[in-house]
Amino acid sequence: MLGLLAAASFTRRTIFTEGHRKFLHILATKAAAALENTRLVEQLQGANRELLEANRQLQENFQQSILGFARAIEQNDPYTRGHSDRVAQYSRIIAAELALDASIVEDIFFAGQLHDIGKIGISSQKLNKAGKLNAPEIRMFRRHPEMGKQILEPIPFMRHLISGVYCHHERYDGQGYPQGLCGEEIPLMGRIIAVADTYDAMTSDRSYRKALPMQVAVEELRANSGTQFDPMVVQSFLAAVAKGQIHE
Ligand SMILES: [Fe+2]
Repeated sequence: MLGLLAAASFTRRTIFTEGHRKFLHILATKAAAALENTRLVEQLQGANRELLEANRQLQENFQQSILGFARAIEQNDPYTRGHSDRVAQYSRIIAAELALDASIVEDIFFAGQLHDIGKIGISSQKLNKAGKLNAPEIRMFRRHPEMGKQILEPIPFMRHLISGVYCHHERYDGQGYPQGLCGEEIPLMGRIIAVADTYDAMTSDRSYRKALPMQVAVEELRANSGTQFDPMVVQSFLAAVAKGQIHE
């Protein structure tokens, strides 16, 4: 009940008729409906505001979880400290250069943060040994994209990042792993992270060699465009270098 409507006559001998009563009833019903609608709209707007806020918090938690995951990878492998961050940033720059939608650019950034998450399961001594890896070690190392996929699969709000994680070691000429996909069969996210990942690996110190100068690494990307890398992605990377968005 919203309220009460009372009618009183102050004119002598004027008594309300049934017609008056019905008219008043209709009027009151209309007023009640209008009041109720207003109340419902306000309630809905309030709920909407709460939902938007909850959604914002969820997104924030999501981003924090991703950063936490990325840090966990790097704890395991001191040589790649900062690697996920840099790969994410290079990937974002390439994606923006390709004029992809802002939300896809952000997805690629997060996928870059997570690209090596599957390495959680590989021991750091094996990853950082000075000499060459032997065949069983290479086999184990090469399982990290698959392991990354398995880690992300049960998490609904991370599922759209899997293609970047699973396909970042595919090669444009089909000689990569784990699936040996070729050209545009490789999801774009994977093709972008492949370039960002290789560039950062070349320009960072590793347990088995010193960092290469930027110019040498850039030339290496150019030389492998169309074989290891998607030419369109390399071209975007080079354009970003020319604009000074990627520098020493
Ligand atoms: Fe990797």
